[in-house]
Amino acid sequence: MVIGGGPGGYAAALYGASAGLSVALIEKEKMGGTCLHRGCIPAKSFLETASVNRHVSHAKDFGIDAGSPLVDFAVSQARKQKVVEGLWKGLSGLIKSRKIASFEGTGSLGPEHAVTVRNADRSTAALHGTSVIVAAGSVPRTIPGFDVGGPIMTSDEVLMLDRIPPRMVVIGGGAIGCEFASAFADLGSKVTILEALPKILPGLDSDVANTVVRLFKKRGIEIRTDVVVKGHTPNGDGGTTVHFGEGEDLEVDAVVVSVGRRPFADELGLTGTAVATDQRGFVVVDEHCRTAEPGVFAVGDLIDTPQLAHVGYAEAILVIKQILGETALPVMYDRVPWAIYCFPEVAWAGHSEESARAAGFDIVVSKHQYRGNSRAQIIGETDGLVKVIAKKAADGTAGQILGVHMVGPWVTEQLGQGYLAVNWEATAAEVAAFIQPHPSLSELFGETMLSLTGRSLNA
Ligand code: NAI
Repeated sequence: MVIGGGPGGYAAALYGASAGLSVALIEKEKMGGTCLHRGCIPAKSFLETASVNRHVSHAKDFGIDAGSPLVDFAVSQARKQKVVEGLWKGLSGLIKSRKIASFEGTGSLGPEHAVTVRNADRSTAALHGTSVIVAAGSVPRTIPGFDVGGPIMTSDEVLMLDRIPPRMVVIGGGAIGCEFASAFADLGSKVTILEALPKILPGLDSDVANTVVRLFKKRGIEIRTDVVVKGHTPNGDGGTTVHFGEGEDLEVDAVVVSVGRRPFADELGLTGTAVATDQRGFVVVDEHCRTAEPGVFAVGDLIDTPQLAHVGYAEAILVIKQILGETALPVMYDRVPWAIYCFPEVAWAGHSEESARAAGFDIVVSKHQYRGNSRAQIIGETDGLVKVIAKKAADGTAGQILGVHMVGPWVTEQLGQGYLAVNWEATAAEVAAFIQPHPSLSELFGETMLSLTGRSLNA
């Protein structure tokens, strides 16, 4: 019995059904969850629109006169919706073809694995699962004084915009804030990011974060860090003035509040069960995603692990393997792949230079810039770097790879090798022996590894 049809829940249902389990999946809205309808997929679709606009703007560098691009955002919205609907239909078809019993309604859990489904017409259905997986996901957090409505939006509302706001302020410079800032700046908005901490994308390797900051500023995105946002005063014509810092004001047409997401356990019931939630509302689980109630598991954004769809997938597989009685190894959360799709793209797995040092590792670091890479020059995107952090062996050479960090063209598609290297616990010399195609962006990864062996080609 799976409650919640987002990436965590539908992955559990699909993987479980493919292994021969009899599965029911309960979802109160559309199958696919935040990722498909209000997150990853629509957001990346907008970022792709932004990317096309950027490319056309620079077409003349390639000898193509495409004029000045004009954005028709209604078409961008419709295209995004078509992508979402297509994936939604595909997912619904898969659920049907795997003979998963799907229930449309709000699922809640009571004692002894009793699950109640409350339908939209207020009728209820009583179900029971030998095992129960709760995967109710998360919702955007808001901040006091910024109630959603009019110009005040979270990611949910921004993705429904039918026009590009001329002036936008983004509160919170995390992954969501940076993706929206990047997309709307490329589409013509004047964007300001207001971040409470000393830097945007906190926790990111500093060489990578600095590259993002530099390229954001180059495109006119204003970044204000260490600021406290105080409130806002609507200006009567659809916009508002945001108050922040020491008496500063900023008049804008849209405010995007992207200060994190909170777990959504609000409608899960759980009374009479041993399932516990912590102070922040996350369902408490052990490293095998087991709650305190035997046979009840929780996965995805509902638990305090990285809020990434692919982490939800991994947790779902971990849980199903346990239900099947198979060996199931916990997810190694400090080594999962991360990908932020702003321009420049960011991707990494494993330790940053700072976190490796803080963890007490003696390390060797190698970094190489895309500017010397032939493919980067061909595509005209030479900003960015690959950075590899390896353990220092007794003889001073680079040993096991601890982290791979990338910023630049298509790095979200290039991280695969770095992710494997970190998780395979490979050494720099082992990875350096592999061949990269030429010319390719991924040669920079190969070059960075090769230089860790003390020799190099292009460095
Ligand atoms: P986040 O926690 O990553 O970032 C929120 C940012 O807002 C932080 O930098 C924080 O310091 C700042 N902040 C908090 N309160 C503030 C305030 N009152 N004023 C100014 N700044 C404030 O959360 P975000 O970006 O909303 O994303 C939510 C989750 O979704 C994250 O776990 C994120 O990693 C995940 N996500 C991942 C994506 C990806 O990997 N491509 C894309 C989108 C989301």
